[in-house]
Amino acid sequence: MELSILLTMVLLAVFLLSFFFLMRSMASPKEMEGIPGSLGLPIVGESFAFLSAFSKPSGIYSFVKERQQRYGKVFKTYTLGRFSVIMTGREASKILLTGKDGMVSLNLFYTGQQVLGPTSLLQTNGEAHKRLRRLIAEPLSVDGLKKYFQFINTLAIETLDQWSGKKVLVLEEASTFTLKVIGNMIMSLEPTGEEQEKFRANFKLISSSFASLPLKIPGTAFYRGIKARDRMYAMLDSIISKRRSGESIQQDFLESLIIKHSQAADEEANEDKLTDKQLKDNILTLLVAGHDTTTAALTWLIKFIEENPAEEHREIQANRNGGSNLTWSEVNNMPYTTKVISETLRRATILPWFSRKAAQDFEIEGYKIVKGWSINLDVVSIHHDPGIFANPEKFDPSRFDAPIKTFSFLGFGSGPRMCPGINLAKLEICIFIHHLVCRYKWRALEKDDSVQPTLVRMPRNKYPIAVEPL
Ligand code: HEM
Repeated sequence: MELSILLTMVLLAVFLLSFFFLMRSMASPKEMEGIPGSLGLPIVGESFAFLSAFSKPSGIYSFVKERQQRYGKVFKTYTLGRFSVIMTGREASKILLTGKDGMVSLNLFYTGQQVLGPTSLLQTNGEAHKRLRRLIAEPLSVDGLKKYFQFINTLAIETLDQWSGKKVLVLEEASTFTLKVIGNMIMSLEPTGEEQEKFRANFKLISSSFASLPLKIPGTAFYRGIKARDRMYAMLDSIISKRRSGESIQQDFLESLIIKHSQAADEEANEDKLTDKQLKDNILTLLVAGHDTTTAALTWLIKFIEENPAEEHREIQANRNGGSNLTWSEVNNMPYTTKVISETLRRATILPWFSRKAAQDFEIEGYKIVKGWSINLDVVSIHHDPGIFANPEKFDPSRFDAPIKTFSFLGFGSGPRMCPGINLAKLEICIFIHHLVCRYKWRALEKDDSVQPTLVRMPRNKYPIAVEPL
């Protein structure tokens, strides 16, 4: 494309965006005047302060913390073209996560809405949302996941075979491992080969388009993400048609949806069945929601247990009668590791805030919140509240020996939008950690606790370690 055309398109997009932000800023809700906080400068609001917080060691949390110190637990702001109220505390989490009659809408950014498509689980509410949740519940249950155990186990062993005596970036290794697991679980994708490479390349582009500017013009991250999404959908179309024609049959997540819940192109519209578009939007949703989160959790956990070793795995290995490999019943009986996972999710708070549209009018801390407003729940503060978690900076899995107060531990969320991938995430982590701890010792090559400027909190330095066999 000629440079002049590209330049004109960029200018047009900037003009349209400014106009859009201007209109939005003029439409500031009157009722928000009673909420403490600042809406910042005209048009841009507090967007610059918000964006610059991404590069601070504690990421976006520094933006929130600064304002909490100034205004208290509930404050308003105007960032990236959006008015929102940020709040924290158990009461706020109960109201926002359970909603009235279980009706809780997520509040995705425009880029996420466009990439994932309108029928994604993340964009449906009420009955339609409940129905989608029911469809994916069985294949993601502990029993439903049993058939993937051997694949995950072998992949963990093979991945770790490469670590002996090496320096590795744990985040990169964890990212490759979790993507191979979910690609295989959803559509039986082989862990190596051309298809895997294409899948991986497209997925990376899709992932990075979420936090990009919403400019759909060639050369931008958003445009590349949309194109990669289209290629991913073409790949899924081809797999779906092979499955329907009987050319290929697999025992995976996609197959279970196609057989039980999907509507073939020549079938009459049926509300209880998924169209191919719904099928694809939701497969992509699971990939996106499940990949970075599990990658981050596995990486933080490896970092925390280097500092606080876990003995459970060597005991499991020692108690094993003769057999040398991990079994399904062992992986389902790791009580200490389960607490280590919870403490990792508390301490690192991988999803630092949950975004919602207020489903009803309500009052909190004496302030009136109006239905439809964009609300963000600050989870980092809840997870670091010394009134609930004494000495909150300390990594201490024994906090989870006794039940935790409701709505104060939100590692996998709570209420109707609680994470449906919890069993898969725990399975992957338990298997990987078992083999890691039984085979190796490792040490961090850098001391750095800062987080990456991404929506999912990950160690900025990717956690480099040196690995030695035991
Ligand atoms: C350790 C790894 C994981 C963590 C920490 C995690 C965390 C969360 C949290 C906190 C939420 C709720 C967000 C909110 O309320 O706004 C959530 C929702 C969700 N998670 Fe996970 N997740 C993980 C793994 C997975 C996996 C493996 C999958 C897919 C197989 C998955 C799929 C989803 C989906 C689809 C939702 C949206 C549910 C809805 O809106 O009804 N997650 N996750």
